[in-house]
Amino acid sequence: MTSRIDWVRANCRLLLAIAEEFAATQPFHGLTIGTGIHLEPKTVALLLTLKTGGARLVCTGNLNSTQPEAVEYLRANGVDVIGDRTTDEREHDRYLRQVLAAEPHLLLDNGGDLFARYLDHRYGQLLGGTEETTSGRMRLARLRSQLARPILVINDSPIKQFAENRHAVGQSVLESFLRITNRATNGRNVLVFGYGSVGRGIAASFRNAYASVAVVEPDPVLRLEASFDGFAVPERTTGLRQADIVITATGAQDVITEADLDVLRHRVVLINAGHFPAEIAVDRIVADARVTGRRDGPEGITTLELTNGREIHVLTGGHMVNLGGPRPLGNSIESMDLGFALQARCLEAVACGRTSPDDVLVPVPSWINALVAEAFLQLYPG
Ligand SMILES: NC(=O)c1ccc[n+]([C@@H]2O[C@H](COP(=O)([O-])OP(=O)(O)OC[C@H]3O[C@@H](n4cnc5c(N)ncnc54)[C@H](O)[C@@H]3O)[C@@H](O)[C@H]2O)c1
Repeated sequence: MTSRIDWVRANCRLLLAIAEEFAATQPFHGLTIGTGIHLEPKTVALLLTLKTGGARLVCTGNLNSTQPEAVEYLRANGVDVIGDRTTDEREHDRYLRQVLAAEPHLLLDNGGDLFARYLDHRYGQLLGGTEETTSGRMRLARLRSQLARPILVINDSPIKQFAENRHAVGQSVLESFLRITNRATNGRNVLVFGYGSVGRGIAASFRNAYASVAVVEPDPVLRLEASFDGFAVPERTTGLRQADIVITATGAQDVITEADLDVLRHRVVLINAGHFPAEIAVDRIVADARVTGRRDGPEGITTLELTNGREIHVLTGGHMVNLGGPRPLGNSIESMDLGFALQARCLEAVACGRTSPDDVLVPVPSWINALVAEAFLQLYPG
């Protein structure tokens, strides 16, 4: 029997094509790449592509997301993996420092963990690398002059913004709602907080699933865009009073709090799709005197009973819904194949000197976006 990792690898058409090319061109011959990114099936496909390009890999995961099957698979394929799944920040810090102790020539970072620690343990041969996230770019921005090496930011690519953040997250949040609750979306009132890339995709996916979708967004220009896209844009309390499903996608804190308890509808489902679990103040809601009972389960669903006789449901404890609940799959293979093709091409560009030392924390170069877009259109013909 083949594993899920084999299925993912076989479906990452861009990465497979890049691996074939890298096997001949060997862009990473003699180089070590240090990585600090989630160790799960899709990153396995990326890491093994880099290895085919001649790299020696020294890898660790991110806090609390390392999947044992991914570690086992990588080790069986000759990748040096440091540590296992941990929620302990000190242990995680030790793993990251062990990656840097190998003095990698290139770093593939997620959240700025490796580049920030590199400054405590500098060595001459670091050429540069990539940063996956906007939060990592913001964290590292104040260290720009000390880093002084090309670091290409994957999230700042239009391809990543529309393919993953908008389309793939929209689909996987809808998939997660259906999988966790087994309830229909048809005719339900859905209220989406935030109309950035993520909120936009969620609103569209639920509308496509026959829900009636409204958007709350403080930025008037984006609110106008939501309105032009055909969504209602009610004042937040009015929207909350009518909502059967509330989804936060803002990157902000305390979007839904105990102050909303009196207006929430009976049996409303509260869902967070934003990165941090602080968008819905679950702990404060649970501790509120108006909450008289709590039932946990089935997997991923918490039900709270209120003094006014209503019940509210919270999915996955307010953590990112598409990475929680039973058997979470995350975003689609195609979207990750695109994002990781950008990663592979950016690391190749740094390794081969196609970037300048001034490219510190810059977006993916437009020629790489064009290359990856052309390849996707060829390899996934419509
Ligand atoms: N679940 C996933 O797989 C996944 C994937 C990518 C990004 N994310 C996360 O989703 C979040 C949103 O990402 P994005 O790229 O759309 O961000 P963004 O900054 O482009 O958009 C967020 C929007 O929320 C609005 N907003 C802020 N506070 C608000 C409030 N209190 N009420 C209503 N709207 C508010 C902002 O005005 C902004 O327009 C981030 O936390 C991001 O890290 C999650």
